[in-house]
Amino acid sequence: MSLPPSTDLYDVIARRRDVRAEFSGEAIDCDVLRRVLDAAHSAPSVGHSQPWDFVLVADEGRRSTFAEHVETERRVFADQLAGERRERFERIKVEGIRESGLGVVVTYDSSRGGQHVLGRHAIADTGLYSTCLAIQNLWLAATAEGLGVGWVSFYREEFLADLVGLPDGVRPVAWLCLGPVTQLQDVPDLVRHGWRTGRSLDDAVHLETWRS
Ligand SMILES: Cc1cc2nc3c(=O)[nH]c(=O)nc-3n(C[C@H](O)[C@H](O)[C@H](O)COP(=O)(O)O)c2cc1C
Repeated sequence: MSLPPSTDLYDVIARRRDVRAEFSGEAIDCDVLRRVLDAAHSAPSVGHSQPWDFVLVADEGRRSTFAEHVETERRVFADQLAGERRERFERIKVEGIRESGLGVVVTYDSSRGGQHVLGRHAIADTGLYSTCLAIQNLWLAATAEGLGVGWVSFYREEFLADLVGLPDGVRPVAWLCLGPVTQLQDVPDLVRHGWRTGRSLDDAVHLETWRS
């Protein structure tokens, strides 16, 4: 079973979910994967530096090794919690690394674009912002194609860099679980599990200054 594709931008934005439990385990069609990566690679970037790379991890052994590391980090976080909060967290699945079939490690290379990246001289983080835009493009394109994406950040950067052989100076920004899904939830997992409700748009919008 696969989800129907959609090309309506607002529909795709509304349907996009962070996916953990709904991966079907089926393989991704090569043409679809190419389109999704092409969408990511079309993102805006500071000074047109395109500082991202995408390491595709299909090997079961490597994904298992990463999943074990993530489990260790999940426990590190769980140990910081107490009582009801901890019980609630223990019920939340935080990754679908084995089930998704493909991991996409999105990386950031601050040396891409040379010494004088146009627009980055005052704000070094603009390189990282650019990489996150590539991730969001990938996420939306995957959703449009009927695929699911789950961002995993329960890891130590050195571990993941070593696992996928990143050169010095190249940082992993995300492990994205990517694959066909049986469904996309209507409500974010963290809301469904009572971990955290969302804020309203009106609370996030300020007129002229922060206080108004
Ligand atoms: C930078 C970043 C890191 C995230 N890391 C994780 C993670 O490690 N595990 C997880 O289950 N979800 C992770 N998420 C997903 C968020 O929990 C999710 O986006 C949020 O709860 C809202 O749900 P939605 O994406 O389905 O709307 C991450 C999202 C972002 C943007």
